[in-house]
Amino acid sequence: MPKKDWIGDRISEELQKLLSLISEKCNSLGYKAYIVGGAVRDMLLGVELSDIDITVVGDAQRLAGAFNDCHGCVVKTYPSFKTVTLDTGGLGIIDIVTARREIYNYPAALPEVYPSSLYDDLYRRDFSINAMAVSLKNPQLIDYFDGYGDLCNRLIKVLHCNSFVDDPTRILRAIRLEKRYNFRMDIKTERLMMACIKEEYPRRLSNERILAELELILTEPQRTSMLSRMQEVGLWQMLFGGSSVPSSTCRKLDRILNGGRNVLLFSVLALLEDIKEEKLLEVFSRYKTFYKKLERFRDRERSLGLEMKDKPLGRGLLYKMFAETDPEILKYLCAIAPTEHYKKNVRTYMQEIKDFMFYIDGNTLESFGVAPGPQYRVLLEGAKTQIVEDKITDIDGQLKLLKEMVQKGEYNVWELT
Ligand code: CTP
Repeated sequence: MPKKDWIGDRISEELQKLLSLISEKCNSLGYKAYIVGGAVRDMLLGVELSDIDITVVGDAQRLAGAFNDCHGCVVKTYPSFKTVTLDTGGLGIIDIVTARREIYNYPAALPEVYPSSLYDDLYRRDFSINAMAVSLKNPQLIDYFDGYGDLCNRLIKVLHCNSFVDDPTRILRAIRLEKRYNFRMDIKTERLMMACIKEEYPRRLSNERILAELELILTEPQRTSMLSRMQEVGLWQMLFGGSSVPSSTCRKLDRILNGGRNVLLFSVLALLEDIKEEKLLEVFSRYKTFYKKLERFRDRERSLGLEMKDKPLGRGLLYKMFAETDPEILKYLCAIAPTEHYKKNVRTYMQEIKDFMFYIDGNTLESFGVAPGPQYRVLLEGAKTQIVEDKITDIDGQLKLLKEMVQKGEYNVWELT
């Protein structure tokens, strides 16, 4: 059960000092400042804080001017959004926003914003648990919509009937919060969400906005249950067509999470590999370069037809399989490896073969009198495969092997026996 008397012990001393400073600056300008949104929710829940959002009843831009001397913070202002970002380095990001009300001119539009009161600023928000505030001056909970009660009852509740229609990304947020904290939507909120999906409002979201929410989902530990929930309510199908997320992909996602490296990139690659929906690739177009590299590797893997899953491959075969594969793709293959043998094969390549020194190239062939053409590639790849297999590390040995191949006219030496 969350506690109300939390403020002091949830914020480090250093951060408290910085918040006091912000509070003082606000006082001197006659403004009021409040911690709002997810930070209040997370402090009440006693979970670790990420970034802090502060709402100022006053002009956040003007406040920014007072921060030039602010303890090494990097201050960025965004005049059109009436926001200021303080990058504190070690203490995370503090976003300072002018209190506002928002007007959505049509479903899924980006809202028009107008400076307003704290109440309006909280009312414009997605869920009651995200619509609480704490004054910086007098650290007490301000809770107009009983967010605290919903937090205690583990409920996600919208503040008004149009919340999902105004901003359908909130459906993704609701699912994310539900699964992250093991909460559920209350009946009315669930009904509003289903109505919004039925009316197909989420289709109106731009790819950028869908991407931003999906990226957040894919970095959460509970992401596979979030994806299942999206499918359960029909949102996945609406956004990405008929293909669901196969259970084998969910297993891959679990492995990637346990590996703990590059979780986002690898998860996107796993989804793109397994789900052939044009719209998914469109949404994840930022990852296209990596995905193309992965596809190239898969083509090679298929054409070689080597069984990497069941046994360790020899060094030459590993070279044939992985040469020129992007290091990030190699790490991905390791992260999703279906068997220990597969993983070991990738690792052996990465650790023992990837950086193997070759002393032969096209110039060498030219010096041997071989006419330039497609045979260069065949000869060099063949020779390199053999060189790696036989661990020929010296220049003379490598030159000798290549020369022998040329002399024998072995221009088709890809096959290792
Ligand atoms: N918010 C909203 N509607 C959205 C996105 C955000 O009302 N579509 C509000 C919520 O009050 C939210 C706050 O803006 O708490 C800050 O948003 P953000 O930083 O994206 O999320 P957090 O709630 O802080 O959650 P997280 O822990 O995922 O960062």
